[in-house]
Amino acid sequence: MPELEIRNLHVNADDKQILRGVDLKVGSREVHALMGPNGSGKSTLANAIMGHPGLEVTEGQIIWNGEDVTEADTDERSRLGLFMAFQYPVAIPGVTVTKYLRTVLNAHRAAKGEEPIPLREFRKTVQSAMELTKVPEEFSRRYLNDGFSGGEKKRMEILQLALQNPELAILDETDSGLDIDALRTVANGVNTVTAQENVNLGLLIITHYQRILHLIKPSHIHILYKGRIVKEGGPELVETLEEKGYGWITDPIDAAEAAAA
Ligand SMILES: Nc1ncnc2c1ncn2[C@@H]1O[C@H](COP(=O)(O)OP(=O)(O)O)[C@@H](O)[C@H]1O
Ligand SMILES: [Mg+2]
Repeated sequence: MPELEIRNLHVNADDKQILRGVDLKVGSREVHALMGPNGSGKSTLANAIMGHPGLEVTEGQIIWNGEDVTEADTDERSRLGLFMAFQYPVAIPGVTVTKYLRTVLNAHRAAKGEEPIPLREFRKTVQSAMELTKVPEEFSRRYLNDGFSGGEKKRMEILQLALQNPELAILDETDSGLDIDALRTVANGVNTVTAQENVNLGLLIITHYQRILHLIKPSHIHILYKGRIVKEGGPELVETLEEKGYGWITDPIDAAEAAAA
């Protein structure tokens, strides 16, 4: 069963220490939520898991299915079944959605020693993924993310998730900027994908709001603050945060830091 294990991860960006010893395990078919105030290092952790070239791991390991991928490049991680939906998806002018999806799909097949997908089969696969994720058909002819609204970009990512069938997906602030209907569509898309019998997807949902967690229900909650996991719990922690905010967790940490300085 696929499993992500992060051990004592320390990460620098531009020589600045952002992550200060993160431990985290995400198993197959588990849904984890990584929460925490803005600037805690959530996106940095997601980027480090995907092997962002601008980040430097100074200590610790990222283990995927028992294999140390700490130094593996992003393409390789993606071929090994890691997937990430970006907080700010980029537009790729000149590449249509169809072309992009086919390229990605074929790269994955090639990595597994499979032939490129026949056009007819590709069309059928895309069509059912589009129905699943409620992405309008005309999208397939548009240029990737070019002129897409925030909600459309997110739908596009979920479409990719449905097509790519990864073993671990990181959704970084997938809920930000979505109205409740778009959020529901995205959450339904994710839930439909994960409910499929042949899917062993583990999910790491990154958010500092609770609302997506009412639609995609996590089993494990981790709170990141100042580059460390400072609190963990079950789904009940989401409600506590809703009532009390982050202060009861972060204030004592700030106070201890101020006292030590
Ligand atoms: N490339 C970078 N260079 C310098 N500082 C960075 C870089 N990327 C992120 N940071 C800093 O790291 C901290 C954590 O950022 P981020 O991971 O985006 O937090 P979050 O996603 O929890 O809001 C912030 O203080 C941010 O300014
Ligand atoms: Mg972020």
